[in-house]
Amino acid sequence: MIKFVVIDRQNRKEEKYLSNEIRVAILGATGAVGVELINLLVERNFPVKELKLLSSPRSAGKKMPFKDTLIEVEAVNEHSFDDVDIVLASAGGSISKAWAKTIVDAGAVMIDNSSAFRMDDSIPLVIPEINPEAAENHSGIIANPNCTTILMGVAIYPLHQIQPIERIIVSTYQSASGAGARAMEEVKTQAQAILNGETPQPEILPYPLAFNLFPHNSPVMDNGYCEEELKMVNETRKIFSEPQLRVSATCVRVPVLRAHSEAINLEFANPFDLNQARELIAQAEGVTLLEDWEKNYFPMPIDATGKDDVLVGRIRQDLSNPNSIELWLCGDQIRKGAALNAVQIAELLIEKNL
Ligand SMILES: NC(=O)c1ccc[n+]([C@@H]2O[C@H](COP(=O)([O-])OP(=O)(O)OC[C@H]3O[C@@H](n4cnc5c(N)ncnc54)[C@H](OP(=O)(O)O)[C@@H]3O)[C@@H](O)[C@H]2O)c1
Repeated sequence: MIKFVVIDRQNRKEEKYLSNEIRVAILGATGAVGVELINLLVERNFPVKELKLLSSPRSAGKKMPFKDTLIEVEAVNEHSFDDVDIVLASAGGSISKAWAKTIVDAGAVMIDNSSAFRMDDSIPLVIPEINPEAAENHSGIIANPNCTTILMGVAIYPLHQIQPIERIIVSTYQSASGAGARAMEEVKTQAQAILNGETPQPEILPYPLAFNLFPHNSPVMDNGYCEEELKMVNETRKIFSEPQLRVSATCVRVPVLRAHSEAINLEFANPFDLNQARELIAQAEGVTLLEDWEKNYFPMPIDATGKDDVLVGRIRQDLSNPNSIELWLCGDQIRKGAALNAVQIAELLIEKNL
């Protein structure tokens, strides 16, 4: 049940308190994250009363399956949110910015997958396993963190709670689907073309990704870091409520279709017992410890694809620093890195009556 920020819609509020069934809209329903949002609403038996699927005019009229029905996709317009309680937005930052006021004015809560509002001090940035309490202060918009930040956050926060992390050095290996459904398709056709002896020209991603890799394609700032890397720095600080936390990231796009990987070095004030680290990670919500040292088997993107949990392994002592440990993770960035985290936030709103 949702408590609305717009109080002049008292009738609607009463109606929902009685029914506990939610009218949901997905803005960007035809995209990589949008499709996963639809899947998750079904899988998690989310109490959907009505589902509206919204896109650009390009996909309007397309029919998408939801449970045992087909729902026609609509081009988003100024009346799209009139009878909606929760908007799961995944159409990109400029689209979120363009529609946020309309959504909030309509009395709906927007859970936004884009980077548009993440660093806005007045907007909560939430990973339910870490800072669910932040959602309590929302004023109609809750931001979903960047995919790489979510995957790293759920894996390392259990350690941070026992002994505060002083410094994080992270390198990412990010799949094509992180750049959207069309980027994933481009890598498939590119790979096929290259195998046929052709030299395809990339259209969605800036450079060929099949049989290649490149530093993350987000804009590079004056300090030499790209936007994606700075998201990991700033969002982690906000979610952990550690504004001074030292974080340095190198983000790389790799020719994997789905699921991101990250190599993470964590520095503490004192040595961190490896057995305790393993135990904490094995018990943590949203994380699975996966390591078989005898077989040299550790998480791979194919293991993480379609899974809810972030898979963590190769937890080991940093040989160069007694106070640091190394770990490796793989996580489905479309699920926990985006759609699942957003649906979990929506569940939190219902559970806590926010
Ligand atoms: N992919 C990931 O792993 C991931 C992870 C975390 C966060 N995110 C974020 O989630 C958002 C969506 O990412 P995605 O990967 O799902 O992108 P995508 O596959 O490219 O999908 C984009 C969606 O937005 C819709 N859209 C585009 N322009 C629109 C407009 N003017 N008005 C309304 N809808 C419009 C598209 O509809 P049409 O079919 O009509 O084009 C499509 O449904 C982005 O902000 C992204 O940064 C993505």
